[in-house]
Amino acid sequence: MEKKTVFSAVQPSGVPTIGNYVGSIKNWVAMQDEYNCIYSLADLHTLTVKQVPAELRQRSYELLALYLACGIDPEKSIVFAQSHVHQHAELTWVLNTITYPGELQRMTQFKDKSRNHADNINMGLLDYPVLMAADILLYGTDVVPVGIDQKQHLEIARDLAVRFNNRYSPTFVVPEPLIPKVGAKIMSLQDPDKKMSKSDENVNAFISVTDGTDDIVRKFKRAVTDSEAEVRFDEENKKGVSNLLTIYSLFSGKSIPDAEKEFEGKGYGDFKLAVAESVAAVLAPINQEKNKMLADKGYLQSVLKKGMEQAEYLANKMIRKVYKKIGLIEP
Ligand code: TRP
Repeated sequence: MEKKTVFSAVQPSGVPTIGNYVGSIKNWVAMQDEYNCIYSLADLHTLTVKQVPAELRQRSYELLALYLACGIDPEKSIVFAQSHVHQHAELTWVLNTITYPGELQRMTQFKDKSRNHADNINMGLLDYPVLMAADILLYGTDVVPVGIDQKQHLEIARDLAVRFNNRYSPTFVVPEPLIPKVGAKIMSLQDPDKKMSKSDENVNAFISVTDGTDDIVRKFKRAVTDSEAEVRFDEENKKGVSNLLTIYSLFSGKSIPDAEKEFEGKGYGDFKLAVAESVAAVLAPINQEKNKMLADKGYLQSVLKKGMEQAEYLANKMIRKVYKKIGLIEP
């Protein structure tokens, strides 16, 4: 049977947290053998909020190095920068002509970002989900692993695929979201009612994948728990401790019941230190590898070039098909 196609992307805006890592990149790595995987740096998406050009460029290299250090293998998967394949912008234009402003204005992320960037509510911010739909539909994508916050955008991609197929003829695959059960839900260390976010103003609320061991230990030591001193999973009454148990389980590979047993009769101090150590043990080698790769821009550029060529071959076939169906003269 032919392998299914997976597409996903992360924006090179800010440093990913451990929530982003377990919720996305870690799963991408695991999918590489079973699927044809296409992983992109969503650099065009970052332009919807103000960027400092030199920082954007550096963060794009950093994110690429992180992908590779985490185990995304350019021999198995297509890894490329969205801006290197012009068909993404072209398909966005075509899809714009079958998208209604109202369906974009009601997107939760558009509303949130309009609030947070009130001085810069631009057309790109509104059109963001259409560019994302183009990313996905260009490659005949079957499955899109994304966080729960992207589910609405995926529904737009599905709607646009169906709308185009009905208006012309079957062209696009209607993609399915794949939303992880755990890890989609790593919460803030300071306020376990909120999702862990890389843009939280309190740096103690999140662990960045680039945090060193000292920072990791310090942040976990300060993590909000409760006054019970019992390491027990109870998402209703013990949100902070449950979040730490989830993190411990994901990073140590132990089950939550085993972890509960391990810390029976021990205080939160020991527990927090063990959580910190389990996270540091995963992140330290990733960062070492990432820094090694960052020092070799030539290698990173060669990965992007190969990815661009592979992606463009596929994207070009799709955009030609689309242009032909809508009645544009073939060149
Ligand atoms: N919008 C996604 C995010 O911020 C990133 C993204 C861009 C994406 N294009 C995509 C994710 C296509 C999945 C598929 O998380």
